Amino acid sequence: MSATSSVAGPQELLLQLLDPANRADPYPVYRQFRDRGPMQLPETNLTVFSAYRDCDEALRHPSSSNDRLKSTLAQRLLADSATPRPMGAASFLFLDPPDHTRLRKLVSKAFVPKVVNELRPDITELVDGLLDHIAERGRFDVISDLAYPLPVAVICRLLGVPLEDEPGFSRASALLAQALDPFFAVTGEPAEGLQERIRAGQWLREYLHDLIEQRRSQPGDDLMSRLIAVEESGDQLTADEIVATCNLLLIAGHETTVNLIANAILAMLRHPTQWAALGADADRAPAVIEETLRYDPPVQLVVRIAADDMTIGDTTVVKGDSMMLLLAAAQHDPNQFQQPETFNPDREAFQHLAFGRGLHYCLGAPLARLEAAVALSAVTARFPEARLDGEPVYKQNVTLRGLSTLSVAV
Ligand code: HEM
Repeated sequence: MSATSSVAGPQELLLQLLDPANRADPYPVYRQFRDRGPMQLPETNLTVFSAYRDCDEALRHPSSSNDRLKSTLAQRLLADSATPRPMGAASFLFLDPPDHTRLRKLVSKAFVPKVVNELRPDITELVDGLLDHIAERGRFDVISDLAYPLPVAVICRLLGVPLEDEPGFSRASALLAQALDPFFAVTGEPAEGLQERIRAGQWLREYLHDLIEQRRSQPGDDLMSRLIAVEESGDQLTADEIVATCNLLLIAGHETTVNLIANAILAMLRHPTQWAALGADADRAPAVIEETLRYDPPVQLVVRIAADDMTIGDTTVVKGDSMMLLLAAAQHDPNQFQQPETFNPDREAFQHLAFGRGLHYCLGAPLARLEAAVALSAVTARFPEARLDGEPVYKQNVTLRGLSTLSVAV
């Protein structure tokens, strides 16, 4: 299937978005979405937005819900099913106020910049250790040797999840990340491997339940122990909600920052002056990170449900319809960014949507930025001669798009 056909209809374009052949460079497909403007597919109760202004407006709109059960599609399925949530209780990412507000507030203190910045020495030590290993070898895989182990170690430490258990749940986390891909919305069928994903979800929930019981008798200085103390002190949250919250943080900590670090390394290796500039001046890290978040965002799209009839730009969305917001398309919108296809960390101050916007704005943004700043400034300074060593390989994921292999010679 060609990525650049200019006459694709709405359904064909959506299938191109799902097509693994377009994963390495989905941006020509996103351009076609923008050229078509908002797309409505009444037969599947779906509206797709790809312009920056529309995505921004939909994210801020008071009638935008993140509760999938409010969609017409889910309501139809529920009518035939006894289990409303086969994947367990929803995390606060997929809840609306007041539950969203209550649960987010309980963990938000742990992620504010002031608290996160206290992790800098630990993160620096972790990065230095990883780079020492690389230096001994002369070549490395960005994913397995740096971009993956760092955020995983940090989130496990924050939550109080033993790092020794990590190999077990990294597989579950990868499978659950695929559940965010919009196969059902586009094709009416889940992507292959649904049963495997459901089993992985069950396994992870049971693992977290067991860990919570251990922490209950032996509390530590970690987020899970603090949530247990809140649970025990009153009626602010339930054990299932602790599991759902830890699940969300664990998956967010596993599947996103890795892509930010790897996408930034790839962009700089393709623009070697940027690699050299950051290596010489660590203060450039925030500019590189914000431009990577715009240019090649780790989260390519998000979904919202119209809780009421609502209007975005000139488009009316009917209550219960799903809205697919193509953030990666919005961030290459020439009406918002000059020369959007150019990777330019020196562009004038700008606002991207890579961490979302509004109520569900990414809680982990300060942590992701810190981890990426430490990793990127250290790797560029330590390996000034680094260069790409073979073609990058992408995972199949559409929503949490990212590399599976990125070989670099140093
Ligand atoms: C570069 C890395 C990251 C990116 C690009 C990213 C992106 C996003 C986006 C786009 C959303 C909004 C989703 C929506 O509106 O539907 C979000 C929400 C969220 N992120 Fe991140 N994220 C990153 C790293 C992290 C990390 C490291 C954590 C925590 C360990 C985290 C925790 C969360 C949480 C808890 C939410 C839900 C917030 C809410 O519903 O109120 N994220 N993230």
